[in-house]
Amino acid sequence: MSCTISLKNVCAKIGERTLFENLNLNATHKDKIALIGPNGCGKSTLLEIMAGLKAPSLGYIELFHHKISNL
Ligand SMILES: Nc1ncnc2c1ncn2[C@@H]1O[C@H](COP(=O)(O)OP(=O)(O)O)[C@@H](O)[C@H]1O
Ligand SMILES: [Mg+2]
Repeated sequence: MSCTISLKNVCAKIGERTLFENLNLNATHKDKIALIGPNGCGKSTLLEIMAGLKAPSLGYIELFHHKISNL
């Protein structure tokens, strides 16, 4: 599959609290994905990480097979 964006074992911790860990996703421009969850579970944090606005605590994001931390 040709992946536009990939999440590789992405984790987010704020202080001692783990919001999510080991998230993996491969998505192309054709995918439509809903991100759902209760208030405060980390949806906005995940989108900020996917947009390169925040660094994940562990793991990385690739856009077109390039790590966004290197772009
Ligand atoms: N910069 C920050 N400093 C401290 N806590 C934060 C920060 N950003 C988010 N949080 C906390 O992380 C949790 C997830 O926040 P958020 O990603 O905004 O959740 P959602 O978008 O799912 O409602 C919340 O408990 C929020 O208070
Ligand atoms: Mg939010």
